[in-house]
Amino acid sequence: MSDTWAGPALQVDRLVVGMGGQTILNEVSLSVPARGVVTVLGANGVGKTTLMRAISGIYSAASGSITFAGEAITHLAPHRIVARGLAQAPEGRQVFSSMSVRENLVLGAGALAGREFDRTFDEVLQRFPLLRERLAQLAGSLSGGEQQMLCIGRALMSRPRLLLLDEPSLGLAPKIVKQIFDLVASIRDSGTAILLVEQNVRAALKVADHAYVMEGGRIVLEGTAAQLRDDPRVRDAYLGGAAGH
Ligand SMILES: Nc1ncnc2c1ncn2[C@@H]1O[C@H](COP(=O)(O)OP(=O)(O)OP(=O)(O)O)[C@@H](O)[C@H]1O
Ligand SMILES: [Mg+2]
Repeated sequence: MSDTWAGPALQVDRLVVGMGGQTILNEVSLSVPARGVVTVLGANGVGKTTLMRAISGIYSAASGSITFAGEAITHLAPHRIVARGLAQAPEGRQVFSSMSVRENLVLGAGALAGREFDRTFDEVLQRFPLLRERLAQLAGSLSGGEQQMLCIGRALMSRPRLLLLDEPSLGLAPKIVKQIFDLVASIRDSGTAILLVEQNVRAALKVADHAYVMEGGRIVLEGTAAQLRDDPRVRDAYLGGAAGH
């Protein structure tokens, strides 16, 4: 992203993605500003991961467009999208188990080299002191929470302007979940825009500025995080009823 770009980080416009003859994403449009957190909420199987993979270039669009920092990335290869400053910490962490923590981080750096690499490596380890202690350890021997930290750290190694996070808190203990959400807030505060997919709706709406709700491959609701927190449809479907908690 050029430093002079003043528009939104990401603009998805009427994106359609099909798989095996089925339409998985049906004219999805959304926008992520250059700063802040946008969250995409929705039940299992509505297409959230498909959306993240399409933005990252892993799945291809049947129609519609994806614009990053004002330039079309709709049909770019994933590594070119990362090189432009859009990185993803995928669902299910997907660290390379039989490689060390250090090797996993190096892989995330893409084309970064020399002093720029050293500086980034140091910044990421400052954010995750726990990974510094385990640099030589195999990624597969880390706990679930540590693997999630590594997965996010690996994505940050490319110095992204926009970070996609797909269910970062899934399956983790409450204490670790809190750490993950604190981390999301601190990455946001350092100026990286974030698109967050979460089933922990309460926590997601707390950290997010803006939210979209997906059902059956479509966006069915959008608003500020505060508006959605107070929306009876969101409270009933995702926040455990009208009383909330
Ligand atoms: N590679 C694929 N081939 C065929 N169908 C797929 C593929 N990937 C996803 N789907 C289908 O697309 C739909 C959306 O799946 P997706 O993983 O995007 O949902 P999700 O919202 O991320 O769900 P979850 O909350 O469980 O992670 C599902 O019906 C799924 O079966
Ligand atoms: Mg998913």
